[in-house]
Amino acid sequence: MTATGFTVAPGRPDADAFRSALGRFATGVVVVTGLPGDGTRPSGLTVNSFTSVSLDPPLVSFCAGRDSRTWPGLRTSARICVNILGAGQEQTSRRLARSDPDKFASVAWSGSPSGQPVLDGALAWLECSVEAEHPAGDHHIVVARVHALGAGDDDGPLLFYRGGYGRFVPADGTAAP
Ligand SMILES: Cc1cc2nc3c(=O)[nH]c(=O)nc-3n(C[C@H](O)[C@H](O)[C@H](O)COP(=O)(O)O)c2cc1C
Repeated sequence: MTATGFTVAPGRPDADAFRSALGRFATGVVVVTGLPGDGTRPSGLTVNSFTSVSLDPPLVSFCAGRDSRTWPGLRTSARICVNILGAGQEQTSRRLARSDPDKFASVAWSGSPSGQPVLDGALAWLECSVEAEHPAGDHHIVVARVHALGAGDDDGPLLFYRGGYGRFVPADGTAAP
């Protein structure tokens, strides 16, 4: 994949240039899930701002949009679960990125130790509590403490780059791990 390069004048970048530069940073994709409210209805949203923060204590972080309709409920869940998506889960990523109260309807899942949704086919999952939430522009930086984790079969990760999905190919041409 190639794309034309560009340079913008110093100063506050326009939104398209900013998005275009940041889109060149390849990421994995996670779905953050939980059981808000009375704990009977699963909820979740697709996130690619996920990153590891600290090994001791075990902390991770992600950014949740201030306009998200899902996050205000999700953050009330006793625990949340970060599901790292595998290469075959593009449709799951797309589905959980919709702003639709029923987006979880046809998603298959089982319970983490505290009952939070672990998505079928997830590469790995982390059951977390929300440790801190920092306002940051139009997002909140969420820091979460990991209490339990697990991993599924490794079919390679789902990757996101310049608005498109792909899978990992080792640079040395060997088979994907
Ligand atoms: C690949 C991908 C990555 C995304 N990453 C984030 C993210 O890091 N933070 C975020 O708030 N929204 C992210 N989104 C958008 C949310 O998934 C989407 O806005 C949300 O699910 C909309 O539903 P809601 O309004 O019910 O929250 C991402 C979407 C996609 C497709």
